[in-house]
Amino acid sequence: MTIMTLYSSAGYPIWHSDLPMAMYTFMESYDFSDKTIIPFNTHEGSGQSGTVNSIRQTCSGAEVMDGFSVRGTTAQNDTETSKNTVKNWLETNDFKSLVNTEKPLYTTEDLHNLQDFLLAKETPDLKGKKYDLDGDGVWSVFDLCLMRREVLKTVDTDNSSKTLVAYYSASGTTEKIATYVAGSMNADTFIITPVQPYSDSDLDWTDQGSRVVTEHNDENRHTELVTVDVPDWDSYDNVFIGYPIWWHEASWVINDFVKENDFTGKNVIPFCTSISSPLGESDTLLAEMSGTGNWLDGMRFTSRSTQDEVKSWVTGLDLSNSNIFSIRAENNYPLD
Ligand SMILES: Cc1cc2nc3c(=O)[nH]c(=O)nc-3n(C[C@H](O)[C@H](O)[C@H](O)COP(=O)(O)O)c2cc1C
Repeated sequence: MTIMTLYSSAGYPIWHSDLPMAMYTFMESYDFSDKTIIPFNTHEGSGQSGTVNSIRQTCSGAEVMDGFSVRGTTAQNDTETSKNTVKNWLETNDFKSLVNTEKPLYTTEDLHNLQDFLLAKETPDLKGKKYDLDGDGVWSVFDLCLMRREVLKTVDTDNSSKTLVAYYSASGTTEKIATYVAGSMNADTFIITPVQPYSDSDLDWTDQGSRVVTEHNDENRHTELVTVDVPDWDSYDNVFIGYPIWWHEASWVINDFVKENDFTGKNVIPFCTSISSPLGESDTLLAEMSGTGNWLDGMRFTSRSTQDEVKSWVTGLDLSNSNIFSIRAENNYPLD
């Protein structure tokens, strides 16, 4: 995908040992200067048959690679072999060299660090950071603007924002929905796990002596978690948080996870499951409890919710990268 957006590729069949006329029309209709063209073709014995040279002549100013060809009958009759051949071709060093694998110099984390530094807020140790982008010897607002431009460039060319689905599920319903969300977003998952898991009898809200009822009656209720630390936390742009509704609110089991993590720079998307209660204020209360992050409206599901329903909710969400900057922009800092 990236290659297709970054470079022109040229695929065609061989006709009478030459490119089809339509290819000439196409090549003559566009300016290919400074682009890399990667020809690939199907044939029945003539290989590339001088077509690469024709492309070079027609698309002056473009870099035209040697390309790749495969027999049409093989492509049609032996898809497995063809797939492997194409895969091997794509994995050759020639081709890999076209893809910029260099890590971007700056991340949204750097952006936030520099901004906090300029606002005299607390920051992690920034010693050795290369934040003097304009080279004038000081870290200033100009550096921040230049850095933002750099970060936005990487965001624009790399749509692969990373998503985490963190959830607590006592009896499996939220877990089912979390699996659907993760599948739709190609996301990682993190299970919020109490040190002392809730047994069936613990969860019996009809029993006045049960653990949940006792905890619910205790204003200072607190469920200790195995950990709130998510591996590679900084790398996530979006964090879904799933929980069951307990007494019309989010289960308090997730409280420590929400309170103790810093969601700055991330979209946070709550979702819950319940038998009949709506989402209610559970999403806004969690956002208040957290105090950081760009919290989106939540969504409620039930044990009958389908994968398609979850998927259509997820795909309709606005997880645009502009959100990533919205919280910090509230500081009236000249980010734009
Ligand atoms: C302690 C407790 C309180 C609950 N309170 C409510 C409630 O107020 N409204 C509701 O519709 N369902 C309530 N339920 C049902 C759960 O929200 C529902 O079964 C949920 O899907 C369970 O998710 P899980 O399987 O991921 O734990 C409650 C369940 C428990 C255990």
